[in-house]
Amino acid sequence: IRVVLSDGPLRGKRVLVTSGPTHEPIDPVRYIANRSSGAQGTAVAKALVELGAEVVFVTGPADVPPPVGVQVVAVETAQQMKHAVEANLPVDAAVFAAAVADWRVSTASMSKIKKQNGALPVLEFAENPDILAAVSQMTVGRPPLVVGFAAETDDVIAHATAKRARKGCDWIVANDVSPETGIMGGAENAVTIIFEGGADEWPRMTKDAVAQKLAERIASAILDKD
Ligand code: CTP
Ligand code: CA
Repeated sequence: IRVVLSDGPLRGKRVLVTSGPTHEPIDPVRYIANRSSGAQGTAVAKALVELGAEVVFVTGPADVPPPVGVQVVAVETAQQMKHAVEANLPVDAAVFAAAVADWRVSTASMSKIKKQNGALPVLEFAENPDILAAVSQMTVGRPPLVVGFAAETDDVIAHATAKRARKGCDWIVANDVSPETGIMGGAENAVTIIFEGGADEWPRMTKDAVAQKLAERIASAILDKD
């Protein structure tokens, strides 16, 4: 069953969302991953659909199912995610909620790596492409609104502000994942939206509420530009 919600402020607008972790292969049976569940990206995509957007949902192997009503593009690796993103432009806005692996094994083995009488395998790494930075810095066809996420500890706002400037995105959704916040892996989030020349601190709320508030803010920003 396909639910079509064609009404709402984002009707006729196309938004791309990346979500979930990426898996980087070591050999045919092993991979490097991270603990992203895909919950926040999924909630953002759902909230955008509810506002009437056409949503392209580029997702790594997440724990939670994709929301109803999005166009799912399933990928495994960071490189596949980058190609999938590029293949689905242009869009009116792009939200990068995926936890992209920073590194991949430079040459994944085509054969299963076998134990060698106690000799240890040595893996060599290569840095993955920064998808958010690449899209933010496009000279032709850049989405009018590019939103990144940043999970930080310690001086969260300073780290996230520097990250926004370095990558060139319009907004960064910063969240404090220090152990004492108890945020990591939970159903709630406490975020600050960092933009050119300012920041809005939102109170702690559910990931769904963060997603709804963010989708509304995206709708206002897109509609302001029309
Ligand atoms: N991101 C991306 N591609 C990557 C790495 C990150 O698109 N290869 C995006 C994420 O989806 C997120 C933002 O960039 O929206 C910030 O990710 P983060 O891991 O915090 O940034 P990094 O530049 O990887 O910095 P760090 O060393 O803090 O991990
Ligand atoms: Ca990273």
